[in-house]
Amino acid sequence: MEVEVTDILLVTSGPRVEPSTSRRIAMALVESLLRERPDLKMTERFAGLLPHAGNDLVAAHGAPEDRRDAHQAELVALNDAVVTEVEQARLIVVAAPMYSYTVPSSIKSWIDHLNWRGRTYLPTPDGREGMLKGRRTYVIATRGVSLPEDHPHNFHETYLRVALGYYGLKDLEVIAAENTARPTGAEEVARAIAAAEAAGRDVAAWWG
Ligand SMILES: Cc1cc2nc3c(=O)[nH]c(=O)nc-3n(C[C@H](O)[C@H](O)[C@H](O)COP(=O)(O)O)c2cc1C
Repeated sequence: MEVEVTDILLVTSGPRVEPSTSRRIAMALVESLLRERPDLKMTERFAGLLPHAGNDLVAAHGAPEDRRDAHQAELVALNDAVVTEVEQARLIVVAAPMYSYTVPSSIKSWIDHLNWRGRTYLPTPDGREGMLKGRRTYVIATRGVSLPEDHPHNFHETYLRVALGYYGLKDLEVIAAENTARPTGAEEVARAIAAAEAAGRDVAAWWG
């Protein structure tokens, strides 16, 4: 599977969930960066089109390359594309609404597809070491109501910090917009868009 050159990787839970607030805020960041650096290339990974990473995928990886059936070859090729995009990107923007106190299952599936020994992590005597270090990673976290990050029921940013950090995507930068289902939501989204535009300019200065 051919992977386009990817400087900026935008991960969305779509494409079917439209209009998406988290995608709108994420695009404000990307467009602000592209205004400064029009030479950079963005790839969007619609996590909503990924299958669940389960036994089929494990079996496909376990089968010798020349013994894989067509379905297994397709699963591995898709997995390779997902990992290659992350390897190439210097900026990753994950548009992640909160669903049932955590991320949508599509975003979870994208993270599950990062689980590739020797490419995204290495076992060491001291535990696993993430191999995807050195990238800037933004999370655009939208929520219908308000739930502080340290609330015991909030498995949103905390989950992403742990799960992505596991592969070396540490120091997540989070732009949150809460109360999107309430009348104050529009103000919060406008604030998040302004923060995303500022983040885009900051990334442009960092890019070098
Ligand atoms: C299936 C589903 C589950 C949701 N669960 C929560 C939740 O647990 N907490 C919350 O604050 N909002 C929840 N929401 C609301 C979304 O987080 C909110 O509408 C968000 O702005 C959606 O972002 P998006 O437009 O980028 O998809 C849920 C929405 C859906 C569709």
